[in-house]
Amino acid sequence: MVIPALPIPPVLDARGLQKHYPLRNGWLRAPQTVRALDGVDFTLCAGRTLAVVGESGCGKTTLARLLTLIEQPTAGTLVVDGRDITGMDPQAHALLRQRVQIVFQNPFSSLNPRKTLAAILDEPLAINTRQSAAERRDRVDTLMQQVGLRKEQADRFPHMFSGGQRQRIAIARAMALNPAVVIADEPVSALDVSIQAQILNLFMDLQEEFGTAYVFISHNLSVVEHVAHEVLVMYLGKVVEFGTRQSVFATPLHPYTQALLSASPTLDPALQRKVIPIQGELPSPLAPPSGCAFHPRCPQAVSRCRDEAPQLRDVGGQRVACHRV
Ligand SMILES: Nc1ncnc2c1ncn2[C@@H]1O[C@H](COP(=O)(O)OP(=O)(O)OP(=O)(O)O)[C@@H](O)[C@H]1O
Ligand SMILES: [Mg+2]
Repeated sequence: MVIPALPIPPVLDARGLQKHYPLRNGWLRAPQTVRALDGVDFTLCAGRTLAVVGESGCGKTTLARLLTLIEQPTAGTLVVDGRDITGMDPQAHALLRQRVQIVFQNPFSSLNPRKTLAAILDEPLAINTRQSAAERRDRVDTLMQQVGLRKEQADRFPHMFSGGQRQRIAIARAMALNPAVVIADEPVSALDVSIQAQILNLFMDLQEEFGTAYVFISHNLSVVEHVAHEVLVMYLGKVVEFGTRQSVFATPLHPYTQALLSASPTLDPALQRKVIPIQGELPSPLAPPSGCAFHPRCPQAVSRCRDEAPQLRDVGGQRVACHRV
């Protein structure tokens, strides 16, 4: 008898997630709305990495702030670790927040300069658990070892560490409470190229060991190709393409994804794509273009693209929002 595999419950499930910021430009003008995030759907399961890519200003950090429960969505539903956050009471909300941790881009500003490594790692444990001082010390030792820091470094301050080591500390701090999800917002872009691969490998080793799910935000597609299981491409607060890493890198369907990929360097000359230039700049999320928001910059746009917003639809297992596919 074949026992059907139990479906793995997603650790993050976002449906129509929106974040709009009201903006007032003087009392004579009508208030405007920044559509920083405008309807994002995805599902993330334990042990998987979802990469979020897109140009500066497309809403990646806004998404990170919603997923880490720092901000409430304007609309949409968000299920974190099996629990819907809509209408959740503040206490439950605070508890759930422990399940999602974040690693920031800049390890030089994300660590308290006045605390030692041991104190930085002890802090989340002291605040959120009932462990004794001895238990916490053990946990701090284990965490340091897991991220490749040595015991004798415990009493050093952040300025005594290199950028890569500081990012290791930030990762250890994020892992301290055994989170279900870690949101990494450009976690290696402030680091020296030679260090980036080490930090990416650390992320992957920890995922293998603890089954942590990652939302990995990056504008660097070579980084994404290294770590992602699934890729979500965003443009002006909306998802334009979603698929497995293999499918998105092998057959990018959206002209925007194609242009992003063509601009990313590869070592293999056989894979070197013809660079597709994207004209102009990312438009303002205050006044997004009509129809498909990418149409003014799209080399394949036709009149329908100006008039009608494309919906995300399934094309051979990939999801893409484009009339021309
Ligand atoms: N609190 C806020 N109030 C008003 N507008 C905001 C706010 N936070 C973000 N925005 C706007 O929302 C849009 C998306 O910002 P976000 O920081 O999410 O972009 P990003 O994709 O992370 O960019 P980057 O790659 O530069 O980090 C931007 O146009 C930004 O100006
Ligand atoms: Mg950002």
